[in-house]
Amino acid sequence: MKKIENIELSLENEGEIVELYGFVAKKRNLGSLVFIDLRDRSGIVQLVVNPDNKNYDLASNLKNENVIKVVGKVSKRENINDKLETGEIEILIDELEILNTSLEIPFALTDETTALEDTRLKYRYLDLRRNCMQKNLKVRHKITMAVRNYLDKLGFLEVETPVLCKSTPEGARDYLVPSRVNIGKFYALPQSPQIFKQLLMVGGIEKYFQIAKCFRDEDLRADRQPEFTQIDIEASYVDENDVMEIGEGLIAHVFKEVKGIEIKLPLQRMKYVDAIENYGSDKPDLRFDLKIKDITNIFSNTEIPFFKNTIDNDEIINCVVAPNCSSNYSRKDLDKLTDYVKTYKASGLAYLKIEDEITGSIAKGLSEEEKEQLISNLDLKKGDLVLIVCGKYNIVKMSLGALRCKLAKDLNLIDENDYKLLWVTDFPTFEYSEEENRYVSCHHPFTAPKDSDVEKLLTDKANCYSKAYDIVINGYEAGGGSIRIHSQDIQSKVFEALGFTEKEIEDKFGFFVEALKYGTPPHGGMAFGLDRLTMLLTNTENIRDVIAFPKTASASCLMSEAPNIVSKNQLDELHISTINK
Ligand code: AMO
Repeated sequence: MKKIENIELSLENEGEIVELYGFVAKKRNLGSLVFIDLRDRSGIVQLVVNPDNKNYDLASNLKNENVIKVVGKVSKRENINDKLETGEIEILIDELEILNTSLEIPFALTDETTALEDTRLKYRYLDLRRNCMQKNLKVRHKITMAVRNYLDKLGFLEVETPVLCKSTPEGARDYLVPSRVNIGKFYALPQSPQIFKQLLMVGGIEKYFQIAKCFRDEDLRADRQPEFTQIDIEASYVDENDVMEIGEGLIAHVFKEVKGIEIKLPLQRMKYVDAIENYGSDKPDLRFDLKIKDITNIFSNTEIPFFKNTIDNDEIINCVVAPNCSSNYSRKDLDKLTDYVKTYKASGLAYLKIEDEITGSIAKGLSEEEKEQLISNLDLKKGDLVLIVCGKYNIVKMSLGALRCKLAKDLNLIDENDYKLLWVTDFPTFEYSEEENRYVSCHHPFTAPKDSDVEKLLTDKANCYSKAYDIVINGYEAGGGSIRIHSQDIQSKVFEALGFTEKEIEDKFGFFVEALKYGTPPHGGMAFGLDRLTMLLTNTENIRDVIAFPKTASASCLMSEAPNIVSKNQLDELHISTINK
């Protein structure tokens, strides 16, 4: 007799004697019988104890979450429970042993729960017993197994890189670790293994991968954690097409292995500028249409004051057409949409309803010609709602990009079982940071510019594009990467363009720039966000649901209470003093 998992049991095992272990999920005394739901990591099976059984008293007194061992006979159930995978059978108990007892559980460990997330996080070890959490962790495991198998077959080596590193810029703030033996000096936890994987290419490893922990001290969102995991890949002698082929092959393998879904390859590719132009996002969700339309030209002779202003300032007027829903949106609803776009810095939202006549906030100001052009250019039909934003290019695109996603959700245009994958390519090399008042790297400073843009690196930063690509799934950036700079000259130029002084370059990346001088092979790679991929494959919008021990939005662990104060001795050893406020 071997220990088996609950879910393995079916009618095929009828009559067999089995040994099972698990938690008491529920106990019911029905008439003279005791029914117990036994939960292990695979699921639930029903146990039955008769009154003449020697274990009857023990079974009657079982409490929820007691840990038990049972031996019993698999038997066909009279009343099938089709909600349970093992619902056709039950186990008639012969032996019952309580392996451990439990305190009263602070919340019900069922899939549907009303428990606050904070409570679930405080008692995460209990939360993990819930079936849905176990399922999520299984999907995560399956993904990493599929990744390892696929990349191993392609000849990639899994190599670990350090966690105590030198601080190098990757966009976010570093987590720092003080060094006891080097007083006053700090390690940084890696934001990604970027520099090390490039050095592995200099080291002749040629094909590297790692399931790598990354640490970023940045503002958290529903799809961001301060520590998260990347499927990190780098290869020598590759161009953009090679890396995208490896990346999409891997993702198709993962979808097939984990979900049984065939992804059609090659994936669609879209240039960054087109993604922004049509979808107002560098991670467009293509499960629904609702493209952004440019209607600036229609209004070149407009009488509507704020449109006239827009035209005079050489700005743009764009819209999204929501089909067949004009009557669903009241004035109040439209005010809410206006507030929504304002959170993206739009100055307002104009609208038109296509009914027997055109009505709406700017209907009175439209000339007949403008009406006709709107109808023919946008192919408007009765029932359509046109939502219009005018102003600066980026603000108009970003706010309508966010609005199209909101409308798709509100109007139920998204099939939750659909997956739309694409590559977004040709990212700008630099983006202007209003905060820092200078150009910063759009990806990271090791990203190779397009060959045709190398000459513009110092003279025309706004128009330099890179050999960079992101893989986007259902509106999430699931991964990204680039071909790297392997020439020391170009690397120096990029550092200069980013405003680093010679001294800063030497201090920050001296070792790396030095390495580039020793015959660095051309190379490139990418990294997938393992947590985001797991979110997508488990249909959750909360990254914490796919991480065993996640952090809260304020980067703390409610269970272990990290971060925490440390003893004075520990601080003294590190020569650190803190200010007690
Ligand atoms: P990048 O910064 O784009 O690239 O990160 C790659 C992928 O990692 C995931 N990701 C995150 N997931 C959860 N929480 C976070 N805070 C977080 N930040 C990023 C995303 C993202 O697409 N070194 C480069 C890769 C390369 O060029 O090869 C890098 O780290 O899914």
